[in-house]
Amino acid sequence: MPRDFVAVARVGDVPAGGGRQVTVEGRWVALFNVGGAYYALDNLCLHRGGPLAEGPIANGTVTCPWHGWQYNIETGMMIQDPRVGVTRHETRIVGDEIQVRLAD
Ligand code: FES
Repeated sequence: MPRDFVAVARVGDVPAGGGRQVTVEGRWVALFNVGGAYYALDNLCLHRGGPLAEGPIANGTVTCPWHGWQYNIETGMMIQDPRVGVTRHETRIVGDEIQVRLAD
């Protein structure tokens, strides 16, 4: 059975072109705003667990602030090796809430 959507922030809490770490059911999730669209990925970089929510964003890609591994924000797949990636979670806007549903 799919999980429920959970409110994690309000529209405006995550500036355009920025990211923010939120906790969803005990799991660290990076929430990104790319041109007004919201995306959610697991926050921990596959390399050594760097916080992706704190990484710079450019052209739909987030760069891990620790050693520079890069991920497609929409899919979670790694730029340097698209065979692997971090888990992507669904997002939706309800009223002024940003909601996330964790992937299994
Ligand atoms: S922890 Fe992300 S690149 Fe090293």
